[in-house]
Amino acid sequence: MRFVLPKGRLLKDSVNLLRKFIPLELPTGRSLVSREGKVLLARAFDVPVYVEHGIDVGIAGSDVVEELSPDVFIPLELPFGKCRLSIAVPKDNRVDVERMDGFRIATKYPRITKKFFQSRGVDVELIELHGSVELAAITGIADAIVDIVETAQTLRVHGLWEVEKIMDVSALLLVNRVAQKIKFQEINSLVNFLKEGDKWN
Ligand code: PRP
Repeated sequence: MRFVLPKGRLLKDSVNLLRKFIPLELPTGRSLVSREGKVLLARAFDVPVYVEHGIDVGIAGSDVVEELSPDVFIPLELPFGKCRLSIAVPKDNRVDVERMDGFRIATKYPRITKKFFQSRGVDVELIELHGSVELAAITGIADAIVDIVETAQTLRVHGLWEVEKIMDVSALLLVNRVAQKIKFQEINSLVNFLKEGDKWN
């Protein structure tokens, strides 16, 4: 089995959990591939793409999966990476979603954001960014942002106020659809192992 893991906030918990099932050697230095080629490190938004296109198993947040809708098998939600995707505005300009008509919204999640505002009948303009989205709000480039909130410390530091939660987020196990068939035994035993919650502590 080959694994693709996200380089950011989910990496440590992903490795800790998988190592309870299988010995994993991580890439070292600037390398993105472990010595035996079994572990790949990718950007969080690219993990589902690698799994869809042939890497056997990956771990990604449900935010990224919802945004990309990859054609992969998702057998399991994992017990880490818990956070939420929320809308935030500068705290001296508090406003409800229903009053956001014409707002420019900066986000890494254009599809989720578009769907959310459409479902509320609010017409917004999207500014797609790839990180540090808070900057768009504090510079006035955007009127609001849609971004991940975990401890809310980043919002506080930047004087932003959480208007509303769009979705809860958790890490997910992703499996390539072909691997699910041709490596069924191996993958099934990984999934069954992880399903037993006592392995998670
Ligand atoms: C995420 C998110 C916020 C921050 C929220 O950024 O975009 O900036 O974490 O966490 P907090 O509520 O605990 O402060 P991340 O570090 O994943 O990188 P990014 O800014 O490049 O998206």
